[in-house]
Amino acid sequence: MSEHTQVEMTEMKYGKDRPEAKHKLMIEDISLRDGHQSLFATRGRTEDMIPVAEKMDEIGFWAMEVWGGATFDAMHRFLGEDPWERLRTLKRYLKKTPFSMLLRGQNLVGYRNYADDVAKLFVKKTVDNGMEVFRTFDALNDYRNFETVVPVIKECGAHFQGCICYTLTEPRIGGDVYTLEYYIKKAKELEDMGADSICVKDMAGLLAPYDAYKLIKALKDNVKPLIHLHSHFTSGMSPMSHFKAIEAGVDIIDTCLTPYAYRTSHAALEPFVMSLLGTNRDTGFDINALADINEILEREVMPKYKHLLDDTKVSSIDINVLLHQTPGGMLSNLVNQLRDMDALDKMDDVLKELPRVRKELGQIPLVTPTSQIVGIQTVNNVLFDTPEERYKMVTAQVKDLCYGLYGKTSVPIDPEVQKKALKGYERGEEPISCRPAEVLEPELENAKKEIGDLAVDDEDLILYALFPVTGKKFLMQKYGKEQVPESLKPITLEDVEKQDQILAKARKGELIEKPAPQDIPEKSEYARTFNVFVEDEYFEVGVDEVGGAPVITYAAPVAAAPAQPVAVPVAPVTPAAPAAPKPALKEEPKAAPEPAVAAGTPVKAPMPGMVIKYEKNMGDSVNEGETVVVIEAMKMENALPAPTSGVIKAVNYNSGDSVAKDDVLAVIE
Ligand code: CO
Repeated sequence: MSEHTQVEMTEMKYGKDRPEAKHKLMIEDISLRDGHQSLFATRGRTEDMIPVAEKMDEIGFWAMEVWGGATFDAMHRFLGEDPWERLRTLKRYLKKTPFSMLLRGQNLVGYRNYADDVAKLFVKKTVDNGMEVFRTFDALNDYRNFETVVPVIKECGAHFQGCICYTLTEPRIGGDVYTLEYYIKKAKELEDMGADSICVKDMAGLLAPYDAYKLIKALKDNVKPLIHLHSHFTSGMSPMSHFKAIEAGVDIIDTCLTPYAYRTSHAALEPFVMSLLGTNRDTGFDINALADINEILEREVMPKYKHLLDDTKVSSIDINVLLHQTPGGMLSNLVNQLRDMDALDKMDDVLKELPRVRKELGQIPLVTPTSQIVGIQTVNNVLFDTPEERYKMVTAQVKDLCYGLYGKTSVPIDPEVQKKALKGYERGEEPISCRPAEVLEPELENAKKEIGDLAVDDEDLILYALFPVTGKKFLMQKYGKEQVPESLKPITLEDVEKQDQILAKARKGELIEKPAPQDIPEKSEYARTFNVFVEDEYFEVGVDEVGGAPVITYAAPVAAAPAQPVAVPVAPVTPAAPAAPKPALKEEPKAAPEPAVAAGTPVKAPMPGMVIKYEKNMGDSVNEGETVVVIEAMKMENALPAPTSGVIKAVNYNSGDSVAKDDVLAVIE
């Protein structure tokens, strides 16, 4: 038995000055990226990382993941924060611990493959701004998508960590695709590319303890780079899997500080520190220092994020992952999407259709962006297919996948689905087999021309190149050309306290903001009654609009429990509805905008989303089936075809506008 395969007690000294363990387990803390991405819809603000940054720097982490993944997108879109500024700010507080980021290979921090010129500049500027470890993955495990970024990472002197996305088609490693041999082969490919370390990226928490042992042991026996394990808690197996991985000799594991741990996030660090104390795998960490950090987080930071926790469930384990292997984030996206379309009752159909769609699309791993691609296409199939025709509404991303624009799938795509998806596809109906970025034209020059002076430096330019619609909006706000909307501003501890007080009063049945008796206005005939749900309590609130501002005249608890589940603002992943930071009285639905002259055939939004672009403008003639407008829903683009031939008589929205289901986007006459 090799020295790796045993964890044994060595020292009986437990203080912080205990001697270093022989095969110390190294820890990467990922609270400040994956932690809040998993639990709080990536809404963590830089100002809430600062109070603990210097203390975290003292712990001795191998690295801290602070950037990448969805943070780049969420920051500029939902928080009004410049992602580049976060790196520079944190660097002032974290002087010793290397920074790590999640890089989606040629997808960078977006949802499609970008051209080589964008990818190179992105990596270079990221290093310039303080990044040291690039955890690089490709959703298809097609490492040709690393060929552009890896040499730049290496040239810049940064650490290249190559990932293998862990996925299964059966409950255990095996079957006909994802076998132990598959993973060893992938690890060897990464080693040959010069990986400084290799990470098993178990995004859905599918890795079972004994598989973890087998897999890590096989990797340790077959390749030289450090082996790192990233395994989400979602299914509840991860602490056990980590422990078996430690016994198999894993070098580094990812954990979160307790307030950022569990649920769809990761195992907490502190139990590992205690469990391994005095063994040859001792982390060497000071448990008291960790307790101090947790207290600051609990007191000063977490209250501002509590409302983003998915509290519709008591369980912290998602049993669906064990049953359907549907990653937690993907499942909540599907639920949100179905809810937006008033089709929550179709959830069972979606779970049934999902493995079928995945198989037809090449049995690909489910991780951003493939989890969205497969998930949303499944929803489209369930909602729009007819018994005669499957894949009626194919998203642009599925077309790209079928063309080969994401890379090579694990098994070939179903030829019929592929043919259907590529019919009339703009790049051609014949799929490619080369490295995807080879067919992409350089993008930077065009981006520069389009954004002009609004991009002051390369960082601005990259933001725009990656996210043309929301990136431009952000730059307008950043340079004062557009106001920052209230919904993007942070909430404070005082806000939270006020909300708690109001809730406490409401629960006791006391009047909210009770005015002096002589100031209570007469209830007018215009007073409207609202039903307000607070957790599982129900209040009837009368609102009388006088001189503009609504005056709350009474609020009374109603005995009966509501039949409907609570209307908790769910952290939306869709751009259509930014998180409302404060619970607000539900507004009466606004009257729909006057439909642009009834005459003609409307092009309606089949789902809520954001308008990306109009392919046809006022006065253009259009043939039936031609794309009129492209809308984005759940980050997937849907090209909406003309239901009839004619001339465009009305274009009702602009690029970047949010639209509801059935909104009339254009009229053809
Ligand atoms: Co993760």
